[in-house]
Amino acid sequence: MVAPWPVLAHGVARPPKGAEVEVHIERLDVRGRGVGEIDGYPVRARGALPGQTVRVRISRRRRGTMDGHVLERVEQSPDAVPPRCDHVGVCGGCAFQDYAYPAQLRGLRDQVAAAFAGVGLEIEVPAVVGCDPPFGYRNKMEFTFSNRRWIEVSEPEGAPRDFALGLHITGRYDKVLDIRGCALHFPGADALLASARQVARELELTPWDVHQHEGLLRHLVLRHGFATAETMVNLVTSEDATEAVDAWSHAMCERHPAITTVVQNVNTRPASIAVGERERLIHGPGTITEIIGGTQFVISANSFFQTNSRQAEVLFRTIAEAAAPAGDETVWDLYCGTGALSLVVAGRARSVTGFELVPSAVTDARRNAELNGLDNVTFLEGDVLETLQSGGNVDGIGRPDLCLVDPPRAGLHPKVLDGLLELAPPRIVWVSCNIHAAAPQLARLVAAGGYRIERVQPADMFPHTPHVEVVVSLTRSDTR
Ligand SMILES: C[S@@+](CC[C@H](N)C(=O)[O-])C[C@H]1O[C@@H](n2cnc3c(N)ncnc32)[C@H](O)[C@@H]1O
Repeated sequence: MVAPWPVLAHGVARPPKGAEVEVHIERLDVRGRGVGEIDGYPVRARGALPGQTVRVRISRRRRGTMDGHVLERVEQSPDAVPPRCDHVGVCGGCAFQDYAYPAQLRGLRDQVAAAFAGVGLEIEVPAVVGCDPPFGYRNKMEFTFSNRRWIEVSEPEGAPRDFALGLHITGRYDKVLDIRGCALHFPGADALLASARQVARELELTPWDVHQHEGLLRHLVLRHGFATAETMVNLVTSEDATEAVDAWSHAMCERHPAITTVVQNVNTRPASIAVGERERLIHGPGTITEIIGGTQFVISANSFFQTNSRQAEVLFRTIAEAAAPAGDETVWDLYCGTGALSLVVAGRARSVTGFELVPSAVTDARRNAELNGLDNVTFLEGDVLETLQSGGNVDGIGRPDLCLVDPPRAGLHPKVLDGLLELAPPRIVWVSCNIHAAAPQLARLVAAGGYRIERVQPADMFPHTPHVEVVVSLTRSDTR
């Protein structure tokens, strides 16, 4: 330890804010920060990897936990690897590209096991199914325009800072790093990003000012079908500015004939989101098509679709195996997005009904069922909360034998969980991209609903980030 600090009344020395300490990193936490201990107190540091000994400056102390900034890596981790991307450490896009992929997968497995153990569920968690290759996997990227560019340490004094198109830096909503290349997005996205920036500057279009709430350009969203090579460019603006946006779109399509569709979303609200109140079609059909495991999916700009196409095939197969409908079951797919899980199980079910809030996703889901020749699938638009609060009394579709549950990151609304317990389907396949939100809810299904967890399978949909997808199969004990 570099600096001495006073011993507290209960005999434990705890470094104060500003102290510099050496700590050996033992694990990663749920946000991808390295965690070690000093006298039994956890110290967390972003950018520190398990196996490293780092010197950190304590920046915050709260409820016995300390946060620190890494000043120096005193001892390197045996699992440290050279990152592929220049932006690592500054960019908030991924957390640990410099950590060997097999070690990442082990860490993710431990995280899932710890989440279950934390809620009293003793579950054997198998190895995480890795993504091969773990680079160039993202089929969707959402970039931000800003007039507050983050200046990197390598840049000369006075470098222009009034235009950026890229990703937020870690922990700063107001600073955007100009991204020159990303190792995670689909091949071709770097060139689209560079042109989007260049064309905007040539046409003198203004980037959004997050403090003043002015400027035209807000976000650039790119979507790509790996199987079809179709590419969507979605420009999110603060107003219509039709002429300027058309000129930008025209220049983009001229430079990149691979662009198959361009849309504009207009978001006039201060909230920094890439979904507009209105969408305008500028070029092509307004959708792209992706094919996963032989199933075709039409996807529009604001509909949810798994962001890792290659690994989606693994995930869908895992879900289909877990669901394994016997052929005569009624299936409900709660939070169905563009209908992916519904379509994956429909061939072996009597009927499937998907429930989804976002109208464009429901339109896509219906089109997808038709496109794939499935006539036993129905999609209902609305809030799952209302469906389950009506006691699952959805006219004409019958109560479910099996529920697929794939909620947003925050997990189920508590009342939806109550509704699911009341509905009491004999089987549930729960899909979660946030096991920390899901574990307490799964524990409640076990304790209050008489469910047994039959199988758990994690799969890595988001390499180089602390997030992991988990498929959990549950059976109500009295149904066996
Ligand atoms: C994690 S995605 C799952 C999508 C789908 N299962 C898939 O794999 O493509 C969650 C979906 O829930 C939808 N959603 C969020 N809140 C909802 C609600 N209250 N009621 C219905 N759907 C909702 C979102 O629009 C999104 O499509």
